[in-house]
Amino acid sequence: MAAKVRPLIAGNWKMNGLKSAALREAKKLATRMRKQSRPGCDVLLCPPSTLLAPLHMAIKGSRIALGGQDCHAAASGAHTGDISAEMLADAGCGYVIVGHSERRADHGESSGQVRAKALAAHRAGLRAIICVGETDGERKRGQTLTVVGKQLTDSLAKGCTARNTIVAYEPVWAIGTGLTPTVDDVAQVHAFIRARLRGRFQDQGLGMRLLYGGSVKASNAAELMAVENVNGALVGGASLTAGDFWPIVKTCI
Ligand code: 13P
Repeated sequence: MAAKVRPLIAGNWKMNGLKSAALREAKKLATRMRKQSRPGCDVLLCPPSTLLAPLHMAIKGSRIALGGQDCHAAASGAHTGDISAEMLADAGCGYVIVGHSERRADHGESSGQVRAKALAAHRAGLRAIICVGETDGERKRGQTLTVVGKQLTDSLAKGCTARNTIVAYEPVWAIGTGLTPTVDDVAQVHAFIRARLRGRFQDQGLGMRLLYGGSVKASNAAELMAVENVNGALVGGASLTAGDFWPIVKTCI
């Protein structure tokens, strides 16, 4: 039996956004959110770090949450260019994405490092959105569940709870390509992830939110969000403007 889990629609802006246009979009979204008396889902924006402070102001009182896109495992120290989970919390974040496939690919991040970052997020009181997903080659070789299973085992630490951990399944080949798995494929992988989490974290694993990410847009969001064990979305390109993002939010709100 699937547990009732409150959905989360999260926008990952990646390395996109300059202040004036970004603020305009965030404010539009905030205005729409403020009109919702009892939103049925949580909404999150993860802008680049340069926009955290201005966005924090722009979305105040709207119930839109703020998140980082990555964090360092340490709380502070000599790590030029990095940002700690404590700093994200200090900037008004409630969430941080860790282990996105672009971090794993561009920066060679291992699941061990991802686990350390998720633990840092928990230490700072943030919810960690831990990303997993297979590449096109792995999918074609029939290794999807093996790869995702290993990433889950190695990236999630003891102490993960339904409150502090969210898992995002993002097939690498679906990111930014316009391609999406079939709903049956999504259902199969999400059921597999749920079973793994339940086996390891019992009731906490039943309550963890499982997001789907990879070319989510207004035209496919409703059918993806209706899949069992899909408790929301991690949206890239279609989260950059309120006009594109709001219809996705509306599928859950
Ligand atoms: P797109 O929605 O642009 O495919 O990106 C997905 C993603 O990587 C979100 O983290």
